[in-house]
Amino acid sequence: MNYYLRVAALVCLLGFLRGGPAASAQTGNSSDPAAQLPDGIGKGYVETLCGSCHGVEMIVSQRKSRQQWEGTVYDMLDRISPGLEREAAIIVDYLAEHFAASDGTASAPPVRISHQVLFNFKPDVTENRIAEVLTSGKQVLQGVPTVITVMLGKVLQGENTEFRYGLLTTFRSREDLEAYRNHPGHRKWVEEVFRPAIAKSVVTDIEASE
Ligand code: HEC
Repeated sequence: MNYYLRVAALVCLLGFLRGGPAASAQTGNSSDPAAQLPDGIGKGYVETLCGSCHGVEMIVSQRKSRQQWEGTVYDMLDRISPGLEREAAIIVDYLAEHFAASDGTASAPPVRISHQVLFNFKPDVTENRIAEVLTSGKQVLQGVPTVITVMLGKVLQGENTEFRYGLLTTFRSREDLEAYRNHPGHRKWVEEVFRPAIAKSVVTDIEASE
């Protein structure tokens, strides 16, 4: 008897986990909240994984930044099982895209890599030429598709005479940084404009650890 009860419970749970949209299609309930989920690769995951404890209206009524969705999704999925990173990443992308906070922070892609170059101009390079190098650099580097932000300017610490200027670019991934390194516009600017004017430089790339 116990055995049959357990099987019945399992079948019920499986049906529940799988059946969200199909079940609602059968009942023809047009106010089904699952219907509020826009199409996308994460939709099925949200229905089955997130909808297993509470209705999806709990989710679709919210607006959060990507970071906030990340917090919620990891918190929720940890309650079912650890190690659902792949599913979590897909769900976060989906929710951050479709249920973004209106402050616009959700659409800012996550920075994982920063590429920093500290440098000094050769002593004979004029102020005008320096301004040209910085302006053209900003223009060219902003045109590289994988770049998130570009900063080019003076180091604020005046006592630092070793390096008076800096360039900072940020990226989503190492692959994006690599694409930037190989971008023809970037290379041309480095070889024809930047390098001839530079006395010395040091490069530091940082990858976010979490
Ligand atoms: C194991 C059960 C369970 C699962 C699975 C689950 N939740 Fe929840 N969720 C809860 C409970 C319980 C609450 C009530 C508030 C609390 O405990 O944090 C909640 C509350 C929420 C809230 C409202 C509170 C807040 O933090 O904004 C959101 C949004 C939410 N869940 C989203 C999700 C998403 C997205 C998923 C799928 C990745 C998910 N939930 C999966 C149990 C679950």
